[in-house]
Amino acid sequence: MTTYLILYTTVDGQTKKIAQFLAEKLAGKVTCQPLEEDIELQSFDKIIIGSSIRYGHFPKKLYRFVKKHQSILEEKQADFFGVNLIARSPEKQKVENNVYVRKFLEKVTWQPKNVYIFAGALLYTKYRFFDRKMIQFIMKLTEGPTDPQVDSEFTDWKQVTSYANQLNHEK
Ligand SMILES: Cc1cc2nc3c(=O)[nH]c(=O)nc-3n(C[C@H](O)[C@H](O)[C@H](O)COP(=O)(O)O)c2cc1C
Repeated sequence: MTTYLILYTTVDGQTKKIAQFLAEKLAGKVTCQPLEEDIELQSFDKIIIGSSIRYGHFPKKLYRFVKKHQSILEEKQADFFGVNLIARSPEKQKVENNVYVRKFLEKVTWQPKNVYIFAGALLYTKYRFFDRKMIQFIMKLTEGPTDPQVDSEFTDWKQVTSYANQLNHEK
């Protein structure tokens, strides 16, 4: 039985939700947990790392993790998925069109086996005042939802399912 390790960073929970959804779809033994620097990786067959964007950046701990564990990530043919709101438009789900994921892959020397980009969630009712105003402003510019009382989830669960199916076939 294939053993999977899914590691995620999350602020409002959407990347965790995607990671857990993926975990449920995988036919194998899955460990799904927040990304931390000192995690034992060797005992897993396959590693998947998911992370979300905040004001244009992935968290620093993701960079530290990748730097520290690059050789084992390559040995385990680890995958990466990025979560952000620009990916609510399908062309921004391609690496070459998604500035955040493209820049991340340029900055690190790690080359994930597969890279996926999933649209995240817009959770106005959870955001603090400053974040809500900033996101509203960005949404106005990019013709997204601006009603602060309405939360929206843009994640396409069919895409996450097809990624899980692909992983199940890789075995
Ligand atoms: C304060 C804040 C800043 C964000 N900045 C960006 C951004 O620069 N670009 C983008 O595409 N999405 C941005 N997002 C959207 C998040 O990437 C999206 O909400 C995602 O679902 C968050 O995942 P998480 O809950 O796992 O952290 C931002 C969201 C918040 C709340």
